[in-house]
Amino acid sequence: MSINKEVKRVTTNTLHALKARGEKISMLTAYDYSMAKIVDAAGVDVILVGDSASNVMAGHETTLPITLDQMIYHASSVVRAVDRALVVVDLPFGTYQGNSKNALESTIRIMKESGAHAVKIEGGREIEESIKRILSAGVPVMGHLGLTPQSIYKFGTYTVRAKEDEEAEKLIADAKLLEELGCFGIVLEKIPAKLTERVVKEINIPTIGIGAGSATAGQVLVTHDMLGITKDFQPRFLRTYLSLFEDIKRAVASYVEDVKNINFPNEKEQY
Ligand code: KIV
Repeated sequence: MSINKEVKRVTTNTLHALKARGEKISMLTAYDYSMAKIVDAAGVDVILVGDSASNVMAGHETTLPITLDQMIYHASSVVRAVDRALVVVDLPFGTYQGNSKNALESTIRIMKESGAHAVKIEGGREIEESIKRILSAGVPVMGHLGLTPQSIYKFGTYTVRAKEDEEAEKLIADAKLLEELGCFGIVLEKIPAKLTERVVKEINIPTIGIGAGSATAGQVLVTHDMLGITKDFQPRFLRTYLSLFEDIKRAVASYVEDVKNINFPNEKEQY
C-alpha cells in the first residue's frame, strides 16, 4: 500500500481514521533534526522521540538514565524537522511515577519547550492517576504495555512478556483501562502474537506493535536498528533494511585513506 500523501499533518484523529479504513500505521523513532527530516519525508505517520535515545544516542545500557531536559532537547530538534508526522515523546523514567502532579509538570515542560504533539508513558493501572491528570490538561497520551524497558530491573531480562496467563490477563485489563481513560493508542512491546490478537479484539484504539506480531493497527521500530546502525542489537522481531554501520565505516575509512594519501581535497575541492 502506498503512503497517503493527502494527509497534510497527522493527528491522533488521523490514526483512528487509518485504523478504521484498515490502513496500517507506520511509526519510527528519531532523536535529532537530520534523521527526523528523512523519516518524515519518507512518509512515516508517527515519529517517536523514544527514551531509547538513552541507549542509541548516549550509549547507556538502559533507558533509565535519560533526563527530562535531555528528552526535551531531542524532541525540540525533531519537532523543528517535521512537516507531516505526529511527534510523540516518551516521558522518561522518574518523571511521572511519583505522583500525578509530577507527571503533569513533566508533560507540560515537554509540550511547551519542545512543541511536540503527544506523550507516551509506560504502564497500566499503577499510573492511572498520572494518565488522568495529563489527559485532563488536554495532552494526548499513548500507552505502552508488555515489555516496558523502564522496568527492566523488575523484569530482570528483555525476553518476551506476558507468556503466562496472569500477566496476559493483567495486560488485557490494562489495555482496556488505557482505552477507557482516553489514551489515543497503545504500544505493545514484545508479547506473544496470539495475545496481541486478543488485545486488538478487546479494544478499539490503535495498537502499535514492536515484536508483537501483525495484528496491531501499526508497527514501530527503532530507526537506528532497522537501518543497521546499532549492529549488535538483533532480536528476532527486527527487520534490518540497510547495513549502515558497515557502509558508514567503509566510507569513513575511505576518507581517512584519502586524507592520509593527500587525495583529498583535490584541485576542484579548493578555492
Ligand atoms: O523508546 C523507544 O524507542 C520505544 C519503542 C521501542 C517503542 O519506546
